[in-house]
Amino acid sequence: MTTMTSRRLVVDVHADAVAAGAAVARRVVDLVRSRPRAVVGVATGSTMEPVYAQLARIVAREGVDLRGVQWFALDEYVGLPPGHPESYREVLARQLVAPLGLDPSAVHVPGAGPRGETEPPQEYDARIAEAGGVDLQLLGIGRNGHLAFNEPGTPFDTPTHRVRLTASTREANRRFFPGAEPPQEAITQGLGTIGAARELELVALGPAKAAALRDALDGPVGPDCPASLLQRHPCARVSADPAAAALLAG
Ligand code: GLP
Repeated sequence: MTTMTSRRLVVDVHADAVAAGAAVARRVVDLVRSRPRAVVGVATGSTMEPVYAQLARIVAREGVDLRGVQWFALDEYVGLPPGHPESYREVLARQLVAPLGLDPSAVHVPGAGPRGETEPPQEYDARIAEAGGVDLQLLGIGRNGHLAFNEPGTPFDTPTHRVRLTASTREANRRFFPGAEPPQEAITQGLGTIGAARELELVALGPAKAAALRDALDGPVGPDCPASLLQRHPCARVSADPAAAALLAG
């Protein structure tokens, strides 16, 4: 693993996705050990799969007590029928709740209240605040630099809100909806919500993320690249593989 220290935020370049996943999973475990009632923000997407797989391995091997932890998803599609396998609630049920043996009520998803009832997007920020705020927010990055479903042009202070997905994001996520149209809308934590987390951990894997990561870390800070928010955050870290880090300035 190489650590790049030329920026204010730390960039760790790991040998591969498994190593990156293990390092990020270890950070989650360290947080929970020091703060048993931790609040963890969880992303969905292919990037998170090695993180959650490694987290499940560590938890099984070391017996980490996760009973006090609250988990808040970054985003959720609008319009999928309940129980749709590609809804982010179901993805988290498969990748996080089942392997870690979590109580499903400890996992929160925007747009849905504690009993699964429809909830206005802004209620989500109030629920995060009630839980004490997010200690560690895990993030992926979209190919256009989006964070969660905050597309380019989103102001940095937006709360959780409903969004229309761009054509490029719908294309990127089409692989999850074979034979069907990807959803048109979603509810997403806003950039203001994400930026309020005490710590941000962005994971970027593979060559398709290289340009977005370069723009986010070495380009100008502003809404044209939502992930450039990390440059302003007081405690942000990036874990990448060599392909995603390939275009970064030394
Ligand atoms: C998706 C999600 C984001 C995710 C990103 C990257 O559209 N809304 O939360 O981080 O795009 O996804 P992936 O990891 O599958 O490349």
